[in-house]
Amino acid sequence: MTPRVLSGIQPSGNLHIGNYLGALGNWVKMQHDYESIFCIVDLHAITVYQKPEELRAKVREIAALFLAAGIDPLHSRIVVQSTVAAHAELAWLLTCVTPMGWLERMTQFKAKASAQESVGDGLFQYPVLMAADILLYQANIVPVGEDQMQHLELARDIAQRFNSLYGETFTMPATRLPLVGARVMGLDDPTAKMSKSASGTGHAVALLDPPDRIKKTIMRATTDSNPGVDFETMGPGVQNLLNIFQAFSDWSNDQMKAHFEGMRYGDLKKQVAEMTISKLEPIQKRYAEITADPAYLESVLKAGADAVRPTADATVRLVKERMGIYTETT
Ligand code: TYM
Repeated sequence: MTPRVLSGIQPSGNLHIGNYLGALGNWVKMQHDYESIFCIVDLHAITVYQKPEELRAKVREIAALFLAAGIDPLHSRIVVQSTVAAHAELAWLLTCVTPMGWLERMTQFKAKASAQESVGDGLFQYPVLMAADILLYQANIVPVGEDQMQHLELARDIAQRFNSLYGETFTMPATRLPLVGARVMGLDDPTAKMSKSASGTGHAVALLDPPDRIKKTIMRATTDSNPGVDFETMGPGVQNLLNIFQAFSDWSNDQMKAHFEGMRYGDLKKQVAEMTISKLEPIQKRYAEITADPAYLESVLKAGADAVRPTADATVRLVKERMGIYTETT
């Protein structure tokens, strides 16, 4: 059987080059080697307050960006999480086998919770819903950025616990990180991960930023006090710029060193900006075409959900049977 790939992105904030290099761009490259399902996880997004109108628009924006980036809807399934009810249903069933202590250890929960005045229970349960997304389809491989590794370990722990309590039910999903670009850092602060929720210009390059803005953000990126690129002593800002270039270009380490060693920072930034713009411009052009035809987008989302629902429902039925939950016998 062809192995199955599953991953997801939250429809909150603006997708940035970290999301692209850590996840979406990687999905595009690998999709045809697998049976692929890519989710827009709106039920995850509402773990912090979202303005309803903005959330509605964001789901479509992200779906259009998936297509514009090169997800092939004739092969891969693009699914809005909330349109397949089994995601939420399995999440509850898994919640009941997940010890609270496991969730209390999640670093992303701790970071997000400390930034809020009042913390919703959904934020705490977030990784269980993520485990449900994956286990629902018995996914073999989950391509993500580095920040999701702990959540994936938890998904495996939950699967293992369920299997040992109720018998072999779930496939163990493996994490797949990109070789370069698994952790793109903020351009204004290379010690912090580039994030959708961080505010302020200068932090991130969004996939839909116009070229002049991309150039401005990259030209202002934080570097260090060296006069130029030194592969031995470079700081995190220079390392981040080189990573971005390498992830976009697919150059080898040797090529990178031969080309950039000793280069002045102004020139390095110019080349990173040009590379980034050259990769994002075609995506932006296709995005404009796709959003001009809303009916097409809706049809892709409907086809995606319709195609995966039978598998999702079958897993929930099996899980319920294993747990002794009432299931209709007719
Ligand atoms: P989200 O929406 O925060 O991010 C989507 C994907 O982008 C990756 N990513 C990054 N990669 C490199 N550098 C960065 N600075 C960077 N920022 C984000 C993330 O690792 C992720 O792969 N919980 C998930 C969504 C989710 C999911 C799933 C993922 C829900 N269910 C099932 C996989 C499988 C999240 O919030 O991703």
